[in-house]
Amino acid sequence: MKKLVIMMMLLAFVGVNVAFAADSYTYENSKGNITFNHKAHQERLGDCAKCHEGEPAKIEVDKDFGHNTCKACHKEMNGPTKCNDCHKK
Ligand code: HEC
Ligand code: HEC
Ligand code: HEC
Repeated sequence: MKKLVIMMMLLAFVGVNVAFAADSYTYENSKGNITFNHKAHQERLGDCAKCHEGEPAKIEVDKDFGHNTCKACHKEMNGPTKCNDCHKK
């Protein structure tokens, strides 16, 4: 019984580590800072695989990702595509 409780606690701990992402991320940028609301995107898109390959983990968000992945999907799904929709001064 004790072993089972410890196992469950370990599993819960690992689960939290694997699934953790901040609600939102801000990227400081010369063109204007960008705020990416991860939680809102998760909820509206449902499918993690829209952005993550395999097990969801950290993604390096750079200009390429921003303009290819982020903006490309916005074009397809009528999301924001104007420069200052993403870059806020
Ligand atoms: C619209 C794209 C998108 C969707 C959909 C999405 N994510 Fe993410 N996720 C990102 C980006 C971008 C990052 C990297 C943020 C950063 O660190 O700058 C990220 C980071 C993460 C991280 C790593 C957090 C860290 O800092 O180590 C986890 C875990 C994660 N996402 C889980 C999920 C899960 C689970 C789902 C589905 C329920 C999901 N994501 C859906 C874009 C997305
Ligand atoms: C797979 C599709 C997809 C990807 C990838 C994606 N978005 Fe979005 N995004 C959307 C949709 C859909 C909306 C909402 C459109 C609406 O309802 O007005 C949205 C809305 C937004 C908004 C408006 C504020 C909000 O959250 O509602 C911002 C800012 C934004 N996205 C930034 C980003 C950034 C930055 C990235 C990349 C790190 C990104 N998005 C990646 C689909 C995506
Ligand atoms: C869908 C959101 C989105 C839209 C729309 C968008 N960008 Fe970006 N942009 C990003 C992201 C994300 C980055 C990478 C942020 C980082 O690396 O910190 C970026 C990076 C940049 C950079 C690099 C700046 C630096 O300091 O490295 C420039 C310049 C830039 N964008 C200009 C533009 C211009 C001009 C437009 C309009 C034609 C535009 N962006 C539209 C999301 C967007």
